[in-house]
Amino acid sequence: FDMANKESFRPVYHHTPAYGWMNDPNGMFYKDGVYHLYFQYNPYGSVWGNMHWGHSTSTDLAHWTFEGCAIVPDAWGAIFSGSCVVDHENTAGFGKDAIVAFYTSAKSTPWGDVQAESMAYSLDNGKTFTKYEGNPIVTSEEKDFRDPKVFWYAPGKHWCMILAVGQHMEIYSSANLKDWKKESEFGAMQGAHGGVWECPDLVELPVEGTREKKWVLICNLNPGGPFGGSAAQYFIGSFDGKKFVNEFPTQTKWMDWGKDNYATVTWNNAPEGRCVALGWMSNWQYANNVPTRQYRSANTIARDLTIYREGGELYLKSTPSKEIKKARGEKVSVPSFKVAGHHEVASLLKDNQGAYEIEMVIQNAGASKISFCLLNEKGEKVSMYYDVPRKQFVMDRSKSGKVDFSSDFPAVTVAPATADKEMTLRLFVDRSSVEAFGEDGKFVMTNLVFPSETYNKMCFESDKDGYTVKTLRVYPLK
Ligand code: FRU
Repeated sequence: FDMANKESFRPVYHHTPAYGWMNDPNGMFYKDGVYHLYFQYNPYGSVWGNMHWGHSTSTDLAHWTFEGCAIVPDAWGAIFSGSCVVDHENTAGFGKDAIVAFYTSAKSTPWGDVQAESMAYSLDNGKTFTKYEGNPIVTSEEKDFRDPKVFWYAPGKHWCMILAVGQHMEIYSSANLKDWKKESEFGAMQGAHGGVWECPDLVELPVEGTREKKWVLICNLNPGGPFGGSAAQYFIGSFDGKKFVNEFPTQTKWMDWGKDNYATVTWNNAPEGRCVALGWMSNWQYANNVPTRQYRSANTIARDLTIYREGGELYLKSTPSKEIKKARGEKVSVPSFKVAGHHEVASLLKDNQGAYEIEMVIQNAGASKISFCLLNEKGEKVSMYYDVPRKQFVMDRSKSGKVDFSSDFPAVTVAPATADKEMTLRLFVDRSSVEAFGEDGKFVMTNLVFPSETYNKMCFESDKDGYTVKTLRVYPLK
C-alpha cells in the first residue's frame, strides 16, 4: 500500500480491504486452485454504508489480491450479504460452470426497509457479474429477510437456499436457481434469541473417529452474543434437503468464545472435501469506531470445521486451515522451563513485526491457575489464564492498548477448556488481533487488540506447585 495508507494496525496475514469499510464475508467459492472471497464493502468511506460486494482472491488463504467491486447497488437497493455457487450442470441456463451469486437487495423506503433476494451471474470466474433480469427472485413482507446461502443437495438433486428471517431461518428449494419454493422454518425455541438472526449456513460434516456425518446449521446473531454484541451460534442435527432438525437442543453452542468472530460462513466447493470457514473479525458494538483510518475491519484466519463427540454431545471443532503454516518464517524455540511463581521470556522475536504464531504445550504440575500474558515495553498486555478447577480458558484485553473508543471494548472472555494435565495452545497475533486455538480447535477465541507497539515479551505466573512450559515456539508469519 502507498505511503498515505500506512496503518500500524493493519494485519499482515489476515484479509483487509486496502481502503474503505468491510463487514461480512460473502459468496465464497473455490475453483481451479483459487479461493474467491467477496465481502460487504463500502468503497466510499471507512464506516458502514453504500453496500457493494468487494472481491479478493487467494491461492493460500493467507495472502489476498483485491479484484475490485464485483456487484454494485442498483434500483433494488444496496447489495447485502449472500453466497455463490458454481453451476456445473448449467441448471440456470446462464452457461456451464457459471458462477451464480445470491444476495439481498436492501432498500430504505419512506414506508420502511424492504429486503428481497436477487441473483447475478458471472461467465469470467467471478470477476464481473450480470444481474438477472427477473430480480428479485424471493420476496417477503418481513423486514429482516436476508443473507441467502445457496448450496447443492446431492441426494435430492436440487438446490437449497437458507435465509435469515427475523429470529428464525427459512429453507427453500429449487431446480433451476431462479424459482424457489419454501420448504420449512427453523428456530422457534431453539438456541439464543438475544437479537436478529443473520448470515446462515448449512453444511454436512464428518464426526471425527466415526463414519457418521451430521448437518451443522450456523446462525449468526446480533446482539445476544455471550460477551455482548455479535456472535456465531450453531446447531447440529439432520437435514433431508427440506427440513433441518436440531438433535441436541439442550445447550446453546458458540463457534468462537471471543468478541470478534461474526458473520461466519463457509466456502462452497472447498477442495479435498474440506469445510473452510471465515468470519468477520469485529463486533457491531464498536466496528465503526475501531482506531484505524483508511480502512476498517479484517477477516479471521481461515478455519477448517469438523465435528467431535464429547460426553454424549456433538460440538464443532475449528482448526486453523493448514495453509497458514506456509506463511511461517524461521522458528524460534524457547527451551522448556518450569514456572513456580514468576517467569519472563524477555524477547519473542528479534525483529518483531507484530505478526506471528505462538505454539505452546503446558504441563500442569498442580497449579490451579496457569497465567501468562503477551506484553510490550509500554506495559500494555493481553492476559490469559487457564482456571483449572473451573475448566476455563480466559482472555482479558482490558489493558491491551487503546481501549477507550468504546465502553464495550475492554472485555474478559471465557471459553470452556479441558485444562487437565497437558494443554496445547496456538496463538495467532497479527498487529491488532489475537486468535487462540486450544486443544486442536476444541475451543477458539478471537479478540481484537490495539497496542501502541508490538507485544514482544511473555510473562508467566503460577500458584501452588506450578507448571512446566514444555514447548514454546514462535513463528513470524509473513
Ligand atoms: C450482518 C449483516 C447482514 C447484512 C449485512 C449488511 O453483519 O447485518 O445481515 O446482510 O450485514 O451489511
